Amino acid sequence: MKALVLSGGAGTRLRPITHTSAKQLVPVANKAVLFYGLESIAEAGITDVGMIVGDTAEEIEEAVGDGARFGLKVTYIPQERPLGLAHAVLIARDYLGDDDFVMYLGDNFIVGGITGLVEEFRGNRPDAQILLTRVADPRAFGVAELDPSGQVIGLEEKPDQPKSDLALVGVYMFTPLIHEAVRAIEPSWRGELEITHAIQHLIDTRADVRSTVIKGYWKDTGNVGDMLEVNRTVLEAMERRIDGEVDDASETIGRVVLEEGARIVNSRVVGPVVIGSGTVVSNSYIGPFTSVAENCRITDSELEFSIVLRDSSIQGVGRIEASLIGRHVEVTPAPSVPSAHRLVLGDHSKVQITS
Ligand code: TTP
Repeated sequence: MKALVLSGGAGTRLRPITHTSAKQLVPVANKAVLFYGLESIAEAGITDVGMIVGDTAEEIEEAVGDGARFGLKVTYIPQERPLGLAHAVLIARDYLGDDDFVMYLGDNFIVGGITGLVEEFRGNRPDAQILLTRVADPRAFGVAELDPSGQVIGLEEKPDQPKSDLALVGVYMFTPLIHEAVRAIEPSWRGELEITHAIQHLIDTRADVRSTVIKGYWKDTGNVGDMLEVNRTVLEAMERRIDGEVDDASETIGRVVLEEGARIVNSRVVGPVVIGSGTVVSNSYIGPFTSVAENCRITDSELEFSIVLRDSSIQGVGRIEASLIGRHVEVTPAPSVPSAHRLVLGDHSKVQITS
């Protein structure tokens, strides 16, 4: 069995972060979201991974390399444009050959891994198996309709009137029958070859399409709110570990991970929090559910429920909450005269100002 990991795409919902960086590499608790997926695949005993890459191919390849450090053998498959999830299967045909495979969306996050699911699929070997989870508002998702035995009888993409509350999770298991289906379908109104249409084609041609409703936590990290939620969930499960330096005037409370080379000076850090190596926090408060990556400076500020990417600096700006801050960002107070905000913001930035 192989894996097909989708790490292309446009990432429009995470702009401006995705103008300069792949969305699959945005860190959750200071580790790229994609790496959690790759670790789950390795844990499930799969070693051959085809990785679909788009405009951010170079960055993904630099981060993942040949996959050896995950115990994987990664082969890159360039996709000229994000033409849809089923298009990714189409262009991976030669790589996948006649093997069964698990398709994993590189920006999806599943707590508890996929080992049990892969075993179940291998044991029963239906033509396809999809994962589902119950959601409060299914209208934003692909939604499945099941018969009483759990057999999938229909799929709809973002329906106005959903037939169930079961949303599709970004992990799918397929036999080679899917290759016929992705060749049989036409692009949707948005110009993409939809995987839901390909699976619907399997259902319409009487293939055995089964589903598993996962109990664990799942999120598509497509937007900032979801990203912060996933970060919160991962941090909640961490153990306290202080490898960096904390001076006598500082306090670290609860599940705080302070990497070697990080320093806390005259500050209060209330976990769960992770702080990367080379980062210095001084005269500041870092509150729960916050990840600060490597080589940042947090000075005379308060930060809570946020993600800060590497090499950024936040100085003397009061309190920041529920924020995603990119790499090499500087947040500083303006001079007192004139009393004005001074902003240098990239395209698609979002700023909320309280005063
Ligand atoms: P999506 O989140 O559906 O699409 P996107 O990345 O274009 O994001 P947005 O809606 O914000 O513009 O993609 C799910 C995953 O699959 C994500 O990791 C990107 C990847 N993908 C591909 O590799 N190729 C594709 O053609 C598409 C549509 C997505």
